[in-house]
Amino acid sequence: MPAKKKSAPDRILLTGGAGFIGSNLALEIERRWPSARVTIVDDFRSGDFRNLTGFRGDVVAKNAVDYAPRATFDIVFHLASITDTTVHDQRLQVHDNVEGFRAVLGLAPRVVYASSAATYGITDERMSETTPPRPANVYAFSKVVLDNIAREHGAIGVRYFNVYGPREAHKKAAASMIYQLAVQMRSGRRPRVFKHGEQKRDFVYVKDVVTGTLLAAERGRPGVYNIGSGLARSFNDIIAALNSALGLSLDPDYFDCPYDFYQTFTEADLAKAQRELGYEPRFDLETGIRDYAKWLGWAAARAGREVDAKK
Ligand SMILES: NC(=O)c1ccc[n+]([C@@H]2O[C@H](COP(=O)([O-])OP(=O)(O)OC[C@H]3O[C@@H](n4cnc5c(N)ncnc54)[C@H](O)[C@@H]3O)[C@@H](O)[C@H]2O)c1
Repeated sequence: MPAKKKSAPDRILLTGGAGFIGSNLALEIERRWPSARVTIVDDFRSGDFRNLTGFRGDVVAKNAVDYAPRATFDIVFHLASITDTTVHDQRLQVHDNVEGFRAVLGLAPRVVYASSAATYGITDERMSETTPPRPANVYAFSKVVLDNIAREHGAIGVRYFNVYGPREAHKKAAASMIYQLAVQMRSGRRPRVFKHGEQKRDFVYVKDVVTGTLLAAERGRPGVYNIGSGLARSFNDIIAALNSALGLSLDPDYFDCPYDFYQTFTEADLAKAQRELGYEPRFDLETGIRDYAKWLGWAAARAGREVDAKK
């Protein structure tokens, strides 16, 4: 049984709010709790002010590591992180990601923070929260440290899988494969994917991620919750869904994977999030991609009419 809903928070701190997921969360928080006072802390190293068009709250342009407000908050959402997994500077990744989290722990009785499916590393197994972490890069390692120190503080982790959707363009090469392939296909190029497009990942639409994060804030208990779609889908599936949503018929252009370590499979076991949060993803890959194409203004006329989440 999901725990009882808590009353609407008044003062909210959101780190990383100029980023992809953070900006979607900020706008939904203001829609859902119109009287809440939201403070964003973001040093704009990868975020973009354009993501916050329509945001009515305060923005502090600071590294979370150095944020030491006098006020406290009802709830902290900590999403600030270096998110480019190709940044291999170990000191920078671990220092900024971990110390940024440590700085906001204690600023509110409830702290919800972003963990990552990258903590599971390379495996062929469906991933459940009890699976031991096996970080394959320093970004993933920094997230494992967040999970470790969160336990001492009773914080709630939302372990995101491969998120895609509106307001991710600023991430450039670190944006989702779905966005990258859509850009290539829109410009008439064949979509380039590693041979032979059968790598499978749990692609989750950002609207479901925002819903899951807010459910964790309202109903979560200390610990980590997987937030994904619950189903691994292949790169070939993405290309088929994009062809359909964009009204194209482009064949994949396969090439060799240059990486020694590459997550070829991610799939979230959602049992805990379903049971304790009542989290149910509403967008499967095809529905999410159609909704996203419509938001981008790229949807083919015939595909646009079909946009409709499951419920
Ligand atoms: N997008 C995904 O698929 C995904 C998957 C798993 C986990 N996550 C996690 O979700 C969170 C949000 O990711 P995103 O995809 O929106 O990335 P993003 O890069 O768009 O957002 C991160 C934001 O944090 C800011 N930031 C980074 N370090 C900071 C610091 N020390 N102090 C202040 N601001 C800082 C950046 O400027 C940016 O606005 C991150 O914690 C990320 O690790 C994302």
